[in-house]
Amino acid sequence: MEPIRRVAISTGGGDAPGLNAVIRSVTLAARNREWDVVGIRDGFNGLLFPEDYGGDGLIELTRERVRGISHLGGTIIGSTNKGNPTAYPVQQSDGSWLEVDRTHELLARFDDAGIDALVTVGGDGSLTIGHHLHRHGLRVVGVPKTIDNDLDKTTETFGFDTAVQFATDCIDRLFSTATSHGRVLVVEVMGRYAGWIALHSGMAAGAHCILIPEIPYSLDPIAATIKQREERGAKFSIVVVAEGAVPVDGQVSTIGKSIGQAVQLGGVGAKVAAELELLTGKEARTVVLGHLLRGGSPTSLDRLLGLRFGAAAVRALEEGHDGVMVALDPPNVTYVPLEEATNRLKSVPADCDTILTARDLGINFGDRMP
Ligand code: F6P
Repeated sequence: MEPIRRVAISTGGGDAPGLNAVIRSVTLAARNREWDVVGIRDGFNGLLFPEDYGGDGLIELTRERVRGISHLGGTIIGSTNKGNPTAYPVQQSDGSWLEVDRTHELLARFDDAGIDALVTVGGDGSLTIGHHLHRHGLRVVGVPKTIDNDLDKTTETFGFDTAVQFATDCIDRLFSTATSHGRVLVVEVMGRYAGWIALHSGMAAGAHCILIPEIPYSLDPIAATIKQREERGAKFSIVVVAEGAVPVDGQVSTIGKSIGQAVQLGGVGAKVAAELELLTGKEARTVVLGHLLRGGSPTSLDRLLGLRFGAAAVRALEEGHDGVMVALDPPNVTYVPLEEATNRLKSVPADCDTILTARDLGINFGDRMP
């Protein structure tokens, strides 16, 4: 294998607190090996469309550039969740859209920029693209990222802890106002395919009902739980619902779809609240936490995980690994083939001890009468 002289970092998909810690860690670990480091702006757009960035879509990542960034939310090199380079949407003269494979164009740009290896930081989509580029000859190491914590082969992704902590704080606050007014408060959180955020924050904050994508729900058990609480003297209830929760015999709640992007989820919280009003006769309100969960300063746990993942990615490259993802397997960070890591998502097992604990506490998931 050729020695590495120049490495690129790309951050793709929805951002997550901890991305800047990864960027800092990759940069320092690489520079301490005398490698150059560049950040590709906005996923791969900086390489594909340099003209959109005044002719240069790469950011030279120096020690100075990454100084004091670990505690910052977002990503200093930008991200995008549209325009997968393997299926890039291009508008045709008749107004229709065609998905064009720009793999070879992108690989040529890596070559032109003298980039020997890529550290791609992303969720399922970006890691699948990374795997694709690896199969086409690019040296690639992936770093798993998503607040949803739904990536397989790593026990945790950075961003998750920050999202759970923030959601927990919000639900704590909603308790007092729900109590004052004797209302039902439905809190919608992110979680497209997996209910980890809803489950962990809901349990930590003491929610009474939690709806997650892994357990199709009916609202009769939720209404019965609310009425049972009322009979026991608790006039308020808190229901946490993941955006991807699906009613039995129903569909996931969507807002719409933009070209080149995954379908936008949303609206389940409002639907649940409206139906619960009818079923219980109680006033119900909805709070959507949405992108608030992706913002803000990462917790120390997420900063540390980002730093560990970034340095491990550089060590992986130095040790000659290629086509792997760094992964948390406590107490270590290990390397797993990208192919395995992107094979399936990590959803909440219906029989995991967290779910069993929740059931023991009387939390209703909308699948059983209380
Ligand atoms: O990062 C994953 C995620 O948080 C999903 O839970 C959610 O559906 C998606 O991002 C929303 O992303 P955006 O609004 O940026 O398209």
